[in-house]
Amino acid sequence: MTAIENSKLTVVGAGSVGTSIAYASLIRGAARRIALYDIAAEKVEAEVLDLAHGTQFVGDTDLSGGSDLSVAEGSQVVVITAGAKQRPGQSRLDLAATNARIISDLMPKLVQAAPDAIFVIVTNPCDVLTVIAQEVSGLPLERVFASGTMLDTSRLRWALGQRVGVSTSSVHASIVGEHGDSEFPLWSSATIGNVPLLDWRDPERPALTRDELDQIAFNVRNAAYRVIKGKGATNYAVGLSTTRVVEAIVGDQRAVLPVSCVLDDFRGVSGVALSVPSIVDASGAVPIKQTRFDEEEWASFEASALQMRTVAADLGY
Ligand code: 2OP
Repeated sequence: MTAIENSKLTVVGAGSVGTSIAYASLIRGAARRIALYDIAAEKVEAEVLDLAHGTQFVGDTDLSGGSDLSVAEGSQVVVITAGAKQRPGQSRLDLAATNARIISDLMPKLVQAAPDAIFVIVTNPCDVLTVIAQEVSGLPLERVFASGTMLDTSRLRWALGQRVGVSTSSVHASIVGEHGDSEFPLWSSATIGNVPLLDWRDPERPALTRDELDQIAFNVRNAAYRVIKGKGATNYAVGLSTTRVVEAIVGDQRAVLPVSCVLDDFRGVSGVALSVPSIVDASGAVPIKQTRFDEEEWASFEASALQMRTVAADLGY
C-alpha cells in the first residue's frame, strides 16, 4: 500500500504495544510519517532509532519521536497505548482507575498538539477509556474511538479458519461488544464465503456444532489471558490490527471494521462505547446502525452495555 502523501501517525506510548503498532505501520507503509511519544525519553529515542535503522528495507517513511508532546503536531491519526498493562490474572477492567487518570490527563494535551487528528484508543479498558477521552476532549463522537474488537475478531476468524480449513480472510464473522470478558460473536450472521456457518460441510471434517462454536467463542474471549500468561503481554496481533485501522483512516477507505465508538441511539443504546461494525474513513468511525442481531445476541449486547456503564459510573463518568 502506498502511504498517502504527508500523512502522519503518532503512537503514544513506546511499550510493547505502541512499538509493535509503529513497527507494523512502518512495514505496511500505513503513513508517510510515524512519530512515537513516551515520557521515558531515553527509551523512546532508542525505539525511534531502532525503527529508523530499518527504513532501507521498507517504503519511504520518516520516523521521529521523543518525550515532548509536540512530536504529535500535524498528525492525522493519534493512537494511544499509554498506561498500565494487564498482569497475569488481571482483567482489562482492573486497569480502569489507573488508566482513566492517565487518559484524562493526556487527552486535552494531545488535542492541543494535534487538533485535527482522529484519536484511536488502544489502552485498556479501551471501551471505558473511549467514553472518558471523548468526554474530556469534547470531540465529535466519530473522532475518538477504540480499536475495540478488531483483534478479537481476527482471533475468531483465525480459529474458525483453522477449524474448517479455509483462509482466515474467507471467514466473515465478528466479535462485538466490550473488548473484554463480555464480548461475544455475531453467530447469526457469520458465514464462510456466503455459506452460513452451521451449514458449512466438508467431507473431510465433521460439521461444526453449536457447542463447538461456544468453545471457540470462549477461547477467543480468553485468548489474551493465555498469551499474557505465557509471554507477559500481547503485542504482535494488536500491532497488526491497529495498523489496519490506521490504514482505513489515512486511506479514507470507508472500510467496515469492528471498532468501539461512543454510541448515540444505537438501537436505543447511548453513552457507552462498544464495538460494532462501523464505517472507518478519514473523518473517523461511525457505527452501522442496521447491524443485524438475533434476540440472544441483542441481550448479550445490552448486558455488555450495562457492564460498561457501571464501570464508567464507578469512575465518575
Ligand atoms: C489483547 O486483547 C490485552 O487487550 C489486549 O490482546
